[in-house]
Amino acid sequence: MSEKIFNDLNIFNKLVNDLINDDQEKGISPKIQTEDVLKKLDISLSENGIDDETFKNSLKEIILNTPKTSSKLFFNQLFGGLNSKSVVGELLAVILNNSMATYKIAGPMVEVEKEILRKVASLIDYPKTFGGTFPTGGSMCNFMALIIARDKKIPEIRNNGKQQDLVCYSSQNSHYSMGKNASFAGIGRNNVRYIETNEKGEMCSESLQTAIKNDLNNKLIPFFVNATVGTTVMGATDPISEIANICNKDNIWLHIDGAFAGTVIFSKKYKHLAEGVQYSDSFCFNAHKTLGTPLSTSILLTKDEQDLYRSFSNKAEYLYQTDNNDYNLGQTSFECGRRNNALKFWTLWKSVGANGIGEMVETNYSLSDIARNYIRNNSDYKLYSYDDSLSVCFNYKDFDAIELCTQLYNNNKLMVGYGEHKGETFVRLVTINRENTKKDILSFFKILEDFSNKHL
Ligand SMILES: Cc1ncc(COP(=O)(O)O)c(C=O)c1O
Repeated sequence: MSEKIFNDLNIFNKLVNDLINDDQEKGISPKIQTEDVLKKLDISLSENGIDDETFKNSLKEIILNTPKTSSKLFFNQLFGGLNSKSVVGELLAVILNNSMATYKIAGPMVEVEKEILRKVASLIDYPKTFGGTFPTGGSMCNFMALIIARDKKIPEIRNNGKQQDLVCYSSQNSHYSMGKNASFAGIGRNNVRYIETNEKGEMCSESLQTAIKNDLNNKLIPFFVNATVGTTVMGATDPISEIANICNKDNIWLHIDGAFAGTVIFSKKYKHLAEGVQYSDSFCFNAHKTLGTPLSTSILLTKDEQDLYRSFSNKAEYLYQTDNNDYNLGQTSFECGRRNNALKFWTLWKSVGANGIGEMVETNYSLSDIARNYIRNNSDYKLYSYDDSLSVCFNYKDFDAIELCTQLYNNNKLMVGYGEHKGETFVRLVTINRENTKKDILSFFKILEDFSNKHL
């Protein structure tokens, strides 16, 4: 690396300082109308370069006007806030710039990744045969699980393509990646059975059983069930043990999508929400959602490593030149060049321990309790979500949720989104930023109330 990096890291440090100061003073960034972005900011690229001062100033304007997802006023997404030890790991991974495909190019980083996978496997009681990898996100974890299940059911598919009528199952409230993934995997969007959910948003296991029976009677091949720990809108958890029993009877792969709330496995108090995860064939979670590691930190585990190999290993003499497959992680991953997404989770885990991670999860849940209590004790509010969910879904007075969220955003007050369940549309407050306190949650409601009473 040339000496120039020291100069550029100085620029970086100054910009980070500006960003943090701006965050503390102003919270979220001012909204720029889409049609004005190019007019207001120096984004356009030209033939000639610029000096460092102009470079820094252009970049400063852009970053100060970019939504600050770590702000205490950002509740819009299933991620928010950054863990600083994790940021250190992420920045070092960038500077090291390894690819995780082989031991030859990633060295000890391979063990960093493997150690996390080992520890997570033990948290969910997977046997020693487990396998795992760090895909690029929750959608990719779900995709890989679907492919693994497909190839296990009909191994010839890998070479010949699909010739059978395969069907898979997921709840009506599950993440949209299910449909996309079915299309990418050659299963087809129409061959996903969306199983009805109850009031809480949990999959009805009897309806799942009925759907599977119908498909078997029609000579179709059920091969994959996706159950969710923390659905995207309601934060609900499907009845895993019941679903596992159903899958077991008909030899159907059970995948648990814990992208949102799967980190409960770290908390003694909330681990029960993922009860039954040990019966699954694969499980994933996103540390970038509830633990504040930078995007993306997704982990996929399978009960048997051979299932990962079957679908993802490939010969490549130009790449696999030393060491065995245990250390050449490209044999169990989707990508060839794969960035190091493990180090930022390792730096977090190493610094606070599994207990510290458990406490972070518990903080998230206690913030959601505070929000729900506030709503329950205030007759101007109606609550739509349930206990033990990090999504707090509500409406305030008769204000329209879509209008309210949009105007809060347009007027730079708060960033929060809306959702829909069983025909009702509501504000969805997600309590995943562990840096927030009771004061920040109460302040959220105060800002929302003051704004809507004055301006809507
Ligand atoms: C339940 C669930 N699964 C999967 C995903 C997709 O994860 P990613 O955004 O990392 O692709 C999400 C994202 O919100 C989710 O809520």
